[in-house]
Amino acid sequence: MGKKHFKRETEILNQGSKVKGRRDKPEIPPIYMTTAFNVEDLDELMDIYEEKGYAYIRNRNPNRNALAELMSYLESAEESIIFSSGMAAISTSVMSIVERGDHILSSDTLYSETFDLFGKVLKKYGVSVSYVDFTNTEKVQQAVQSNTKILYAETISNPMMTVVDIEELANISHSNEAKLIIDNTFATPLVVRPLQWGADMSVHSLTKFANGHSDTVAGSLSASKEVIKNAYELQLILGSPLDPFSSWLCQRGLRTMDLRLEKQMNNAEKLAAALEEDPNVKQVHYPGLASHPQHKTAKKMFDGFGAMLSFEMPSDREGINAFLRELEVAHYAMTLGGYRTTLSHPVSSSHQSVPEVDRERMGITLGLMRVSVGTENPDDLVEDFQQALKVFE
Ligand SMILES: Cc1ncc(COP(=O)(O)O)c(C=O)c1O
Repeated sequence: MGKKHFKRETEILNQGSKVKGRRDKPEIPPIYMTTAFNVEDLDELMDIYEEKGYAYIRNRNPNRNALAELMSYLESAEESIIFSSGMAAISTSVMSIVERGDHILSSDTLYSETFDLFGKVLKKYGVSVSYVDFTNTEKVQQAVQSNTKILYAETISNPMMTVVDIEELANISHSNEAKLIIDNTFATPLVVRPLQWGADMSVHSLTKFANGHSDTVAGSLSASKEVIKNAYELQLILGSPLDPFSSWLCQRGLRTMDLRLEKQMNNAEKLAAALEEDPNVKQVHYPGLASHPQHKTAKKMFDGFGAMLSFEMPSDREGINAFLRELEVAHYAMTLGGYRTTLSHPVSSSHQSVPEVDRERMGITLGLMRVSVGTENPDDLVEDFQQALKVFE
């Protein structure tokens, strides 16, 4: 269009680089696999900065923004930001609040790498942490210090499935000018939206139920605009935003999260009930069971009880190996939240780095198995566990 033609090697770089066609309205957003966007001139760049448009990939990308928008809707949040992993979301969220001399009060049952973030990383920067049973709000209240800036817990904890009362924790946090951060990975925003119960930040490993297909790693933080502003500035510096393809995959996964989870939660309820009856199972931890110590709290806050459970088999290493080899429907895999049922052994995976005394305090025995329930036929699933558990007879 009146533009100059260049020599071959220059044209190879330019030809076909523009999307043509005025009817270009794709049903599904394309993947913007580009590190930068061309800018007309200095004035346009200023407009882009002002309108929060697109210039460079680490600052903003259309696929990442689209995913953030969907997460904000799901979490009933003003804004969200998307990270390259759940741990990136957790570390950035926490570090956007604390500084040297501050204190974090944390639940004593947590994902192991969150423990490592507190105990190994933040400690080096002069931030102290103490742990308390967050299901006992009196103890939490007593453990708050004058320099406590964060109260931190998982809605449903990994792997003991304890449930915290977000509303009560938010009251304690706010009367002490601290922020409440909730890791909502196990519950998902279908089950509970922590900000609606007073939490200040809801973080996720989107790698799990949100993506739901066990094929990408991602994380999110949902919060008020003010909270997001600080976390976003830190994310830019630490450099942990999610890439366009994973953002696209994750958004695709989220579109069907409600559908998957309805089935997964039904299956989890059936499996938990069957395991509770099984003579080779000592105890089942699932918030939907009347025997669960925080069943009432879960009923107050939750729509459904999630698709994660754990149960205790005999602490017999050979028996555990035989059980794992017998399973045909469920798969032994170091992840959770996918559409297939997977199980893991916390002592040798998620909580391997946690010292034995701490593991024992948390109730993580050698025989504890953690199950992420999938969308299989419930009878196939229950029978699979029942036949495999016979190895202990
Ligand atoms: C509860 C919880 N939070 C956070 C994470 C970390 O997520 P990611 O592996 O996406 O960094 C995990 C990982 O298993 C988890 O189970």
